[in-house]
Amino acid sequence: MKALLLENVHPLGESLLRDAGFEVETRVGALDEDELIEALEGVQLLGIRSKTEVTARVLENAASLEAIGAFCIGTNQIDLDVAAQKGVVVFNAPFSNTRSVVELAIAEIIIMARRLTEKDRALHDGVWFKDAKGSHEVRGRRLGIVGYGNIGSQLSVVAEMLGFKVYFYDTDDKLALGNATRCSSLEELLSVAEVVTLHVDGRSGNAGFFGAEQFAAMRPRALFLNLSRGFVVDYDALKTHLESGHIAGAAVDVFPEEPKSKGEPFSSPLQGLANVVLTPHIGGSTEEAQEDIGRFVAAKLRDYIQRGSTTLNVNLPSLNLPERPGQHRLIHFHQNVPGVLARMNGILAEHGVNIEGQMLDTSAESGYVVTDVVSQLSEALLDQLRSMPETIRLRVVN
Ligand SMILES: NC(=O)c1ccc[n+]([C@@H]2O[C@H](COP(=O)([O-])OP(=O)(O)OC[C@H]3O[C@@H](n4cnc5c(N)ncnc54)[C@H](O)[C@@H]3O)[C@@H](O)[C@H]2O)c1
Repeated sequence: MKALLLENVHPLGESLLRDAGFEVETRVGALDEDELIEALEGVQLLGIRSKTEVTARVLENAASLEAIGAFCIGTNQIDLDVAAQKGVVVFNAPFSNTRSVVELAIAEIIIMARRLTEKDRALHDGVWFKDAKGSHEVRGRRLGIVGYGNIGSQLSVVAEMLGFKVYFYDTDDKLALGNATRCSSLEELLSVAEVVTLHVDGRSGNAGFFGAEQFAAMRPRALFLNLSRGFVVDYDALKTHLESGHIAGAAVDVFPEEPKSKGEPFSSPLQGLANVVLTPHIGGSTEEAQEDIGRFVAAKLRDYIQRGSTTLNVNLPSLNLPERPGQHRLIHFHQNVPGVLARMNGILAEHGVNIEGQMLDTSAESGYVVTDVVSQLSEALLDQLRSMPETIRLRVVN
């Protein structure tokens, strides 16, 4: 089995795959479409980050490819539908940078509460601006978390340890951690919170959901943070409320339009405002997060090849499978239409193969069935399964 890792994937990913017996080729940069097609000859696993486009044409021409690891959060650079149609499983690392985002949020709340950007700037400019006015401790402050998912809920726990009273609002019914208080509406949260921080996901319905009305509903002199997605906030409305002094400070890490690469120019209505911390979408950008991404995605690729596990993949049905030593495992992706399982099991019975264990999961278009057997699987049997019209991909493990 061969793996090709592009774009400087963390060395931990490479060593994990080598230890699992893969032959690993690494390249520093991204490849264009034609280079990628050539490089994928005879390769089963592809590891990329955000700059390599895995297009439909690449997938049509990558006959040996079994799985792709996006060693990052986003998967927009991969044609997920075509990958699913070809039975190529795609994994990413959605949780590896959760803690990094939480720590930045905590840091920024303290920076704003102590008005540190102003103190820092003054001293760099040679002015001794020693003053307690407008500086506060965070102990005992009411923190309102909007979106209580991976990041919001971890922030809840860490913030409570610092002495915040935590309130949260989520559109889903989420379990309150620690002593956090669930709010039944965004309005309720805004009426109580002295610091409001957004950690909602990027569903299209969230576009502009936090605008003039929501800023007006925040408590006077409250602080605001957005480390979720740029398009969910109306930053012109935020600017108006910062200039009027209704909002006392803001920390913003994500913007509706962000430059594609390091060093490019950037502009925002929030530039130059007092007590506003602007960061270039670095909430999750730490060395620890990169290391965890390397380990997490490589382990997912290994477990798929060795056991057929597809847990947390982004484009095909999900099965978490234990190892079954001494058995052969048939990995079968198929179109999700009635009768496939019956036909498949009929073929196994015809060849006298007894099924020891079987698991199935389906999505709208695709089905994934994993079958464990003890008997040897003849080429004739495998050919019959492969030639079923619904079969997308068949592989035998062990
Ligand atoms: N700044 C960064 O570098 C960085 C890094 C990682 C993640 N993120 C972003 O942070 C956000 C949160 O990530 P996560 O992993 O916690 O996501 P998640 O999917 O685990 O949690 C999102 C939560 O928001 C809730 N939600 C969605 N819309 C809502 C709304 N309108 N009102 C209230 N609740 C709502 C969902 O029910 C869910 O519980 C995502 O948008 C993600 O893209 C940013």
